[in-house]
Amino acid sequence: MEGLVCKSIYKTYDGRVRALGNISFSLPDKGIFAMIGRNGAGKTTLVRILSTELIPTKGSATIKGLDVVKDPSAVREIVAIVPQEARAIPWLTPKQTIISYLLYRGMGYSEASKRAEESLKKLGIQKSSNKLNRLLSGGTKRKVLVATVLASEAKVIFLDEPTTGLDPISRNDLWKLLKDLKDDYLIFLTTHYLEEAEKLADKIGVIEKGRLIAMGTMEELRSKVEHQYSIRILGDSNPIKTRKGVTVKGIDGTYQILTSESDAFEIARELIKKKIKFSTNPVSLEDIFYYLVRKPIDEDSGVEEGGWR
Ligand SMILES: Nc1ncnc2c1ncn2[C@@H]1O[C@H](COP(=O)(O)OP(=O)(O)OP(=O)(O)O)[C@@H](O)[C@H]1O
Ligand SMILES: [Mg+2]
Repeated sequence: MEGLVCKSIYKTYDGRVRALGNISFSLPDKGIFAMIGRNGAGKTTLVRILSTELIPTKGSATIKGLDVVKDPSAVREIVAIVPQEARAIPWLTPKQTIISYLLYRGMGYSEASKRAEESLKKLGIQKSSNKLNRLLSGGTKRKVLVATVLASEAKVIFLDEPTTGLDPISRNDLWKLLKDLKDDYLIFLTTHYLEEAEKLADKIGVIEKGRLIAMGTMEELRSKVEHQYSIRILGDSNPIKTRKGVTVKGIDGTYQILTSESDAFEIARELIKKKIKFSTNPVSLEDIFYYLVRKPIDEDSGVEEGGWR
């Protein structure tokens, strides 16, 4: 069964701000999906529509067969969201935060209390269970919100930038937890950390100016770019003049050659001969992202003639 289906969603705010144009895609009912895109690309708008917070200007979407516009209350029973701007209520404790959310969703008190404890433990913040949220660090506050949605019975979870503000270790812990959950949940997250999407997601969508410009597994995204291999020269000079690919200079002054797999081997041989240190890898999501968002959007992006409505 499809977990989530978006059919030609458009959103224009106040009749003039075009936030989304013709977004269509589908996802299975389990696994991790990451939506990446620049500030203002439309990620939060899409998440808000799918979690029934916002009505699209045009188009429809279903989650596990339930229509987000026609049947929002049924959808709300099976989805839970941590919005981008969500803050844990300062004068509650993490445990109270989770329990009140679960009571609000219709769960009984003793079940809610049991689930709250389990979820706080899963997130590794059980020691803070009974402290006031306002006394917790920013990252722990964020974890309280994630613990809150994971304590619910919802199996479709939207996390809008869940790891913003987390330290590298906490971020890694959350990645591990989400990975463990992906056999039972559909987790839809947005992120600016491309490494996070690359490591975590089964499928990645790239949104740019409200349009879905690419979507697929890492391998599928890699097949959309001109050069699939990257060679990084260690050092701040470029000793190789090659026309087999493109050479770009990073802000740290190092050079990167983007090329094909076979040309990468040839260039690597030349570098070895010259005793120049380098590393070679398939292109990363970061390379792919830069390539895709710099490419002008063409007719294939699915935007109807005459623009958005
Ligand atoms: N409530 C609103 N009213 C009017 N315009 C809005 C509203 N919310 C968002 N927008 C506009 O819609 C567009 C998409 O915004 P959105 O918040 O969905 O982007 P985003 O990809 O989540 O960005 P970020 O990475 O900064 O969170 C932007 O042009 C934004 O200014
Ligand atoms: Mg956003």
